[in-house]
Amino acid sequence: MEDIIRINGNKKLNGEVVVSSCKNSVVAILPSVVLASEIVKLYDVPNIKDVQILIKLLRLLNVKVTADDDELTIDPTNITNIDLVDEDVMKLRASYYFMGALLGRFKHVRMYSPGGCNLGPRPIDLHLKGFEALGAKIKQEGNIIEIDAEELTGDDIYLDFASVGATINIMLAACFARGRTTIENAAKEPEIIDLSSMLNKMGAQIRGAGTSEITINGVSRLKGCIHDIIPDRIEAGTYIIAAAACGQDVTIKNVIPQHIEALTLKLEEMGVNFEIGSDFVRVYESNNLKAVDIITQPFPGFATDLQQPLTALLTKAKGDSHIEETIYIERFKHCNELNKMGANIEVGSGDSMVHGPTSLTGQDIFATDLRCGASLVIAGLIANGETIIHNAYHIYRGYDSIVDKLRALGADIK
Ligand code: EPZ
Repeated sequence: MEDIIRINGNKKLNGEVVVSSCKNSVVAILPSVVLASEIVKLYDVPNIKDVQILIKLLRLLNVKVTADDDELTIDPTNITNIDLVDEDVMKLRASYYFMGALLGRFKHVRMYSPGGCNLGPRPIDLHLKGFEALGAKIKQEGNIIEIDAEELTGDDIYLDFASVGATINIMLAACFARGRTTIENAAKEPEIIDLSSMLNKMGAQIRGAGTSEITINGVSRLKGCIHDIIPDRIEAGTYIIAAAACGQDVTIKNVIPQHIEALTLKLEEMGVNFEIGSDFVRVYESNNLKAVDIITQPFPGFATDLQQPLTALLTKAKGDSHIEETIYIERFKHCNELNKMGANIEVGSGDSMVHGPTSLTGQDIFATDLRCGASLVIAGLIANGETIIHNAYHIYRGYDSIVDKLRALGADIK
């Protein structure tokens, strides 16, 4: 697939787009299958780069994975706990879920430290603190991390920050730990509920997912299951924002409204015309948009992953929109690219100010991370003339068939 996306902007979007299953759920669910002693079947698996990499890593562990369209059959019965020192481990941060899963299953894991988007420093100290609380010993030599435990014993773990990754990784490591593990100040993202409900189907005893206190009672084994992954709230939000920017009448389907409440409330504040159904959002042509202020927070606050796409829309809003990032203070690399197109955005330390409205003109611009790429696509849809987005591979990591889906809505994109 060519690494460039070309968009001739300023076209009205119409029609329906169906949201795929959730990237940040499936990238936790795939590694967690190593905890199972029987076959797991997953439906509606999104066809994105991150999924392909995780399937390759599962196969390195001798886990049989067969794909039949968007259905995955995963057989972990002959799993071998080899060192995961393949360079693909460093292509996505979520590979670190193999730490919690392999430690939980085998009390030993040796692998490369994770990679992923360059959103500033992305430590895993809270993950490791959790593993140590369960009785694990950690050795780090260069880029390789080795974690061993004689025994894994439940403990009370407090997270200094409601980290999604740490919450999930500790949950995985605690599934077979003796006794009860409590995670205080746990992250409440819907992906955590999705994973917990799958693990409980397999025989785990996890309570409280979606609240700030999760308890896990250790069990001896997990059986297989069938699981349908939740829709991707960030993909949904991205298309809703694109429709607010250039839509005439666009319906975004396969949405759980409760998962994007912070976004829809802000769009209402901006004066976007839309209606919310039970599992869809319908967006109508919206003009005279008003500036709004955003502060990113852990769920259910405004998602950090959506502040970048929303910034593109805010260039059309009248007034000054202040965006404060409390999760990733360096998540503003898209602003420089948008300014090249004619936007007027000032970037501070951990915040930005979008002065609007400004008109955008197509340019050669560069994606630097997944959601930055999404922001540039929306800017390209808005802009007059042709926008060429380089390093499009970032975008394909998290948006299944984004070019086809936008073309089906009437965008001039390839
Ligand atoms: C998950 O990343 C998502 N990735 C991110 O989505 C999302 O932006 C983020 O949660 C916040 O919602 C996946 O689910 C694969 P965190 P994660 O642990 O788990 C600090 C996307 O675009 N922190 O909640 O890495 C960390 O540095 C991606 O789909 C520590 O300090 O997020 C960051 O500032 C981007 N120590 C903050 O917490 C730790 O041990 C949030 O991290 C762990 C995290």
